[in-house]
Amino acid sequence: MALTLGIETSCDETSVALVENGRRVLANVIHSQVDLHREFGGVVPELAARDHLERLPNLLDLAFEQAGAGPDDVGLIAVTRGPGLAGCLLVGVGVAEGLGAAWSRPVSGVNHLWGHIYAAMLTRPELEPPLLGLVVSGAHSDLVRMPEHGRFEVIGRTRDDAAGEAFDKAARMLGLGYPGGPALDRLARSGNPNRRRLPRPSLAGLEYSFSGLKTALLYRLRDLGRDVTDQDRADLAAAFEQSVVESLLEKLDQCLPTRGEVARRAGGGIQEVVICGGVAANTLLRRRAAEVVSGRARLTMPPPELCTDNAAMIAAAAQLASPPRGEVARSAGGGSHSPAAQLASPPRGEVARSAGGGSHSPIQVDPSLGWD
Ligand code: KG4
Ligand code: ZN
Repeated sequence: MALTLGIETSCDETSVALVENGRRVLANVIHSQVDLHREFGGVVPELAARDHLERLPNLLDLAFEQAGAGPDDVGLIAVTRGPGLAGCLLVGVGVAEGLGAAWSRPVSGVNHLWGHIYAAMLTRPELEPPLLGLVVSGAHSDLVRMPEHGRFEVIGRTRDDAAGEAFDKAARMLGLGYPGGPALDRLARSGNPNRRRLPRPSLAGLEYSFSGLKTALLYRLRDLGRDVTDQDRADLAAAFEQSVVESLLEKLDQCLPTRGEVARRAGGGIQEVVICGGVAANTLLRRRAAEVVSGRARLTMPPPELCTDNAAMIAAAAQLASPPRGEVARSAGGGSHSPAAQLASPPRGEVARSAGGGSHSPIQVDPSLGWD
């Protein structure tokens, strides 16, 4: 049994997973740092990094126990190398490299964004690219084409705030504290989105923008002042949620064939749609996305625990997107994988793989890593 051990520490979830063939989750243990950061109203990077380091040994034990496996069963170690908080990423990469050296196993540095897409392969193991992805998280609202494994082309993104960031800020304005997205989702369930309507952002092309909507909410709350009731808050949460969700889906809609085209087999192109990332856990987005995509393409939305940050998706990405087992770090210029060569020309994307038990550290942490 050759399993991939995944490690995710990019932000405020510490997670360890064991995944078979990049498609089957044997264990996916997740520790959320919500309680640690709540009193500060957001993630405190230094506290987050230290907590990752303290939790990882125990989570590793737990993952092996749940999977009924041991280190001998591990063929590859996968760890998030970016994007994320620098100190947090360093903890995960340091631990992964330590284990790689101790067990003589290769270590693969994975792009967190790719991981979110690969959560869909854990949800529907037969799913293959090409696909269209909508990745909505705390820092991203990206529409991406994935023509094949390990290749992504961004066709739409946000001009300002990401959808998750917008939810978090709106939640704070509504007095919901951190973490905002899930709290706003809950409050919106008891609200009426039509009672206190908010504008729906709509830019030309495939660009998103949520900062104007955020300001509209701020003014609405200011106008209500002290008279604001709990029902007002719930109505505004529902209106805000509806504006974000419909805006996200409007651009997705533009990329899909119409139902008529599908019936005439004239749509071509996109047959598979993946919506993923933390915001894909949102109740309204899940319901509306199913309606918008129905009859036009096949929709895969991972279950909520695979939408928010987790290590199983990192293991899946390492196994399915990377070069064949044994191939060493894909650095440009004749395959040299010395640290100096890697700094001069870092490997494209995610797959920076150490030979296993090597004496140097080829995984480069990149807090602002993009799609490639
Ligand atoms: O993917 P993720 O766990 O971490 C990042 O990579 O950023 O996404 C976190 C984001 C946060 O902004 C959080 O508020 C949002 O996802 N989120 C939600 C929900 N659950 C998480 N937003 C709206 N509704 C939810 N149910
Ligand atoms: Zn994420």
